[in-house]
Amino acid sequence: MVDDSAADRNLCRILLDEVYGPDLEFFEESEALTGLRTCRGLAPDCILLDYNLPDMTGLEFLAELNSAAPLPEPAFPVVMLTDLNSYPMALEALRFGAQDFLLKDRISSHHLGLAILKATQKVDLIRELREEHASLVRSVAEKDVLLRELHHRVKNNLQIIASLLRLQAKAAADEGVTAVLRESQNRVEAIAMIHEQLYESVDLRQVHLTHQANLLMTNLFSAFGVDRARISGQVTVCPRPDGSPLVLRVDQAIPVGLILNELITNSLKHAFPDGRSGSIRVEAQNRGGRLDLAVIDDGIGVPEDLATRKTKSLGLQIVEILARQFAGTWELKREAGTVFRLSFPER
Ligand SMILES: Nc1ncnc2c1ncn2[C@@H]1O[C@H](COP(=O)(O)OP(=O)(O)OP(=O)(O)O)[C@@H](O)[C@H]1O
Ligand SMILES: [Mg+2]
Repeated sequence: MVDDSAADRNLCRILLDEVYGPDLEFFEESEALTGLRTCRGLAPDCILLDYNLPDMTGLEFLAELNSAAPLPEPAFPVVMLTDLNSYPMALEALRFGAQDFLLKDRISSHHLGLAILKATQKVDLIRELREEHASLVRSVAEKDVLLRELHHRVKNNLQIIASLLRLQAKAAADEGVTAVLRESQNRVEAIAMIHEQLYESVDLRQVHLTHQANLLMTNLFSAFGVDRARISGQVTVCPRPDGSPLVLRVDQAIPVGLILNELITNSLKHAFPDGRSGSIRVEAQNRGGRLDLAVIDDGIGVPEDLATRKTKSLGLQIVEILARQFAGTWELKREAGTVFRLSFPER
């Protein structure tokens, strides 16, 4: 208790004795400076603080007491003791880190015990919350590291599979088999690339569409050994209405990446036969909560009878199955070349 009135200190000691009995350890100081020193040295469970001290006001005392504590956590539970005249200041003290206040002339052992209980519980709770928060932050950071590591390893493993497929493709005697293995290799690499981006990204839950599409495009152009002077590739992704870049959640990124892989592959494989030149464009934008994605080429166009063909080839089947995974709808049209449009809910 920090109070310059010896009578008040005595009264409180007696009242507290009634509440706590032999459990009570009561220390008293009559001045703020010695009070602060004692509080810091003894770390009491609760401080009873008078508003008017000879060398400081109660508010100054509180400010000094809490100066080293990380706000909003008070250093100690404090109950202000005040008379009617300093009632407004007592209210102010609550803002300065006191937990409760009592009017001196109405003090009783019951009220005192209750105020101390409330004050200590409040500070304990704040402390527990802060510790809980700190441990959550730590554990999220650890999970981030683990997740990052996981993406890294998945990427490495997928690259091993891709390398095996490449070796098999090289060793295959049949040209058709080689081509099929190469495409499988590209599909595996398309997924590996997404894990690589997730591993490198700040936010482990999403990838930037522009980046992903550009990487895919570059990878496929080089896999097919395409002369960029003959066929050009371009990615145009409109930012979202609020100016932020278009991103894909992890669960969307992999199917979208695979779909893009199939379509860009198709354009490279089918649209420009016999050394034809042209361009392949990937376009994306957010429209009314949906993401519209298009792969457009100005090549020879899909065959007229494609829609009515009985046996569906693997590429478009993959597109169909994947699009269904995230409630996407798609169409493949013959225009100036081939236009593929996919639309799916953004979130
Ligand atoms: N951009 C395109 N330009 C011209 N024709 C295309 C284009 N995309 C697809 N096609 C035609 O549609 C067919 C079906 O495509 P799909 O991707 O399903 O099979 P694929 O490419 O032949 O084989 P894979 O199963 O390896 O993908 C192709 O065989 C091709 O004739
Ligand atoms: Mg295909």
